[in-house]
Amino acid sequence: MSAILRFTLSTAVATALALFAFGCGEQSEAPAPPKPAKEAPAQPAAKAPAPVEKADTAPAESEAVEADPAAGKADYQIFCASCHGPTGDGDGPVAQALDPKPARHSDGNFMNPLEDDYLFKVIKFGGASVGKSPMMAPVGGSLSDQQIRNVIAFIRSLANPPYQP
Ligand code: HEC
Repeated sequence: MSAILRFTLSTAVATALALFAFGCGEQSEAPAPPKPAKEAPAQPAAKAPAPVEKADTAPAESEAVEADPAAGKADYQIFCASCHGPTGDGDGPVAQALDPKPARHSDGNFMNPLEDDYLFKVIKFGGASVGKSPMMAPVGGSLSDQQIRNVIAFIRSLANPPYQP
């Protein structure tokens, strides 16, 4: 009895060893042949000399376009003359109904001391923005900043005595 058992065991062990060995052999088979390192053409990208051609052509201070009194006159007739009058005498058709009366842009003594920035504000944001009559309506919604500057240039041309910047 024990002899048969011993034989069986040894056979089993032998078989196991054989299988193991076989398995191992197979596993270590065919080591992938080392691929020849594909030589990437490591060409050092020719260092371009970065053309920093920052031309010094920046327009000297894009300080807006110069105010154009002629263009301002056209807008003045459309947006201002109804109250201020066509020549800034404060005698437009709507003026009668107003109190206080529209400023007389032809009155240099009144207008000349007023700064451009102040006029710009009154015109763009309306009389109320500087504590004046709200009947002096804001035109910022209708005229661009440049157009307003044009109108100011025109107003300046109406002043008597003449406006001197
Ligand atoms: C609906 C009438 C009306 C229109 C249109 C009008 N204004 Fe006036 N404006 C007035 C009145 C009224 C005053 C006087 C406000 C006050 O004295 O309180 C005035 C005052 C002014 C003043 C003087 C502000 C000051 O400090 O005394 C300026 C400058 C002026 N207007 C410019 C303009 C210009 C430029 C336009 C056109 C873009 C214009 N106004 C359109 C009624 C008007």
